[in-house]
Amino acid sequence: MSSVGIIGIGYVGLVTATCLAELGNDVVCMDIDAEKIASLREGKVPIFEPGLPELVVKNRERMHFTTSLDEIFEKCEIVFIAVDTPPSFTGDADLSRVFAVISALPGLSSGQHILVMKSTVPVGTGLKISSELARQKMDNIAYVSNPEFLREGSAIGDFLNPDRVVIGSREPEASERVAALYTRMKAPILKTNIATAEMIKYASNAFLATKISFINEIANVCEEIGADVTVVAEGMGYDARIGKHFLQAGIGYGGSCFPKDVAALKQIAGNSGYHFQLLTAVIEVNELQKRRVVNKLKKHLGPLNDKTVALLGLAFKPNTNDLREASSIVLASRLLGDGAYVKAYDPVAIPDAARSVRGVLLCDDVLTAVENCDAAVLVTEWEEFAHLPLAEMKKRMRHHLIIDGRNFLNAEEIRAAGFTYEGIGHS
Ligand code: UDX
Repeated sequence: MSSVGIIGIGYVGLVTATCLAELGNDVVCMDIDAEKIASLREGKVPIFEPGLPELVVKNRERMHFTTSLDEIFEKCEIVFIAVDTPPSFTGDADLSRVFAVISALPGLSSGQHILVMKSTVPVGTGLKISSELARQKMDNIAYVSNPEFLREGSAIGDFLNPDRVVIGSREPEASERVAALYTRMKAPILKTNIATAEMIKYASNAFLATKISFINEIANVCEEIGADVTVVAEGMGYDARIGKHFLQAGIGYGGSCFPKDVAALKQIAGNSGYHFQLLTAVIEVNELQKRRVVNKLKKHLGPLNDKTVALLGLAFKPNTNDLREASSIVLASRLLGDGAYVKAYDPVAIPDAARSVRGVLLCDDVLTAVENCDAAVLVTEWEEFAHLPLAEMKKRMRHHLIIDGRNFLNAEEIRAAGFTYEGIGHS
């Protein structure tokens, strides 16, 4: 069997590479970051993802690392592109890294090579790449869109047990060869054209983000009328047409995908002359949801000038060190803007925060974070926070206020310990 190549060993790239190796493939991983490649060669995994370091070590015989694009195409016929496509200042996805790969492709004459797009790219990109390949006289390379649906924190399980595999191509043989990589998985494999495959990814993420903004608005109404959003969501979730997932109210969605993909889909629609009204609201609700936490703090503490607030959790969700578009960052800057002091603790994201977050005093544990604080806000529902040292926190905090931004804490226990407790969407 020829090896499988992966270009771009970031989050999606490394998980894809490792899982394909776990499925028995020889994998060649390529990244332009020589330092990253060197540390991966030593078995060091540069991202926090449960189970990933162990799986990299387990499959080290089958995983090879290089900085050479030529090497990857010499050794591999099927080559995945998993470089990042961050949002540009216009809201469009920045495809410069994707096109940097395309323009650096070596001449390939075998007619057996397939480029498989794992990066999330705007609808229409596949077609553009196919034209670019033709322009470079490389139209003997097949192109396949194979979007990724994995979630950070459960990426390995999601990759190995997907709900579906989507394969978009104009060449049926290329689709078959890529599909063959997934046949050990018991998932439906949907073969379609390229634009449809690209759209499935955006539509899925935008729908999930819509579900979150919807339940957040329901939560806001619940607060006004004395209903409890958690029970409302449970009651809705029993309806199989609605489903129970992604109905957790909180302080909004973040991460590397939802904010970027929702904005990009809105932009894709706009560029084609369609105004996607619903997504405009989804984005706005997500922004306002963070502001509501600030208002809750003001309601209890008055003006926040010179108040000190502890953020419990910085990562955009538990089981990751990822701070991209995290609610914590937005919340921290709003609080700082209001003249508050902000302290924070996160079980794994502190080293990352030290590199990227300004103006927040980063602490090594919960008790140091809440010391002399007027309030603590739970931002990320790390398991560690399920059992907060309430008695000790009470002694150390100036005011005894806890805002639970994820409806994760035990309200009764916190109130019994002498704190004022407020969650999202219930009294
Ligand atoms: C998401 C998609 O789930 C995944 O399919 C895609 O490939 C990448 O984007 P991820 O960003 O890892 O994955 O995180 P996810 O678990 O989906 O959560 C995204 C955000 O939504 C988090 O900030 C989370 O806290 C928030 N969220 C999620 C809610 O606020 N409420 C919910 O009910 C679910």
